[in-house]
Amino acid sequence: MSVPVAALTFPAAGWPPEAYLWFKTLHIVGVVVWFAGLFYLVRLFIYHREAEDLAPPLREAFQQQYQLMERRLANIITTPGMVVAVTMAVGLLVVNPAWLHQGWMHAKLALVVLLLAYHAFCYRLMGQLAAGSCRWSPKQLRALNELPTLLLVAVVMLVVFKGQFPTGAATWFLVALVVFMAASIQFYARWRRLRGERLAATAGTAGGTDGAAA
Ligand code: HEM
Repeated sequence: MSVPVAALTFPAAGWPPEAYLWFKTLHIVGVVVWFAGLFYLVRLFIYHREAEDLAPPLREAFQQQYQLMERRLANIITTPGMVVAVTMAVGLLVVNPAWLHQGWMHAKLALVVLLLAYHAFCYRLMGQLAAGSCRWSPKQLRALNELPTLLLVAVVMLVVFKGQFPTGAATWFLVALVVFMAASIQFYARWRRLRGERLAATAGTAGGTDGAAA
């Protein structure tokens, strides 16, 4: 059963009053670092896959570089960010265990489980890319990269609105904005690909004409 936020008293006995605020500060810092890493990691996966279209000597060089960048980003930024965010979140719950009786916290924890699964899946994709066995196309990876955005918006809304989660026009506007952004990214990528193909075809035609004239 949900306890009204105003009825909560914290910190729990034995903790200095500022402990909660320190945990919250570091929790937010961890969350920002974690998401920066998650967003950029899948972007690198997209470039890594697109590099497959390059000619052989360039392809190997680009793919090796992306592999190195992915591994460093995942191990030095993304995972440590996740560890800080989750450890500090545990601290917040220890200092104020009453949050665990709130419905919004249960919803938040369910979304965090999804986020952790996404994090683990990114590692799996990174391994597949390194082995050259990734079957996700750049287009699918772009769509996948929208998942953490949706989770971020939902979790932040839950933590800010808590028991009064809004379902009105502003929420739908936000959902529409996220969908619009996702669609724009796909359309821009498609436009870039078509333009590249057109330029390549034009260069090919020009080369062909030159060749015939020579
Ligand atoms: C391990 C799971 C997590 C737990 C147990 C947890 C728990 C908490 C708690 C107890 C607070 C303090 C709420 C308050 O004082 O009003 C908090 C704040 C916050 N959390 Fe989390 N959190 C978790 C993961 C996340 C994730 C993944 C995100 C981002 C997507 C996030 C974003 C935030 C933000 C932005 C705040 C500050 C909200 C405010 O001060 O109004 N948390 N979290």
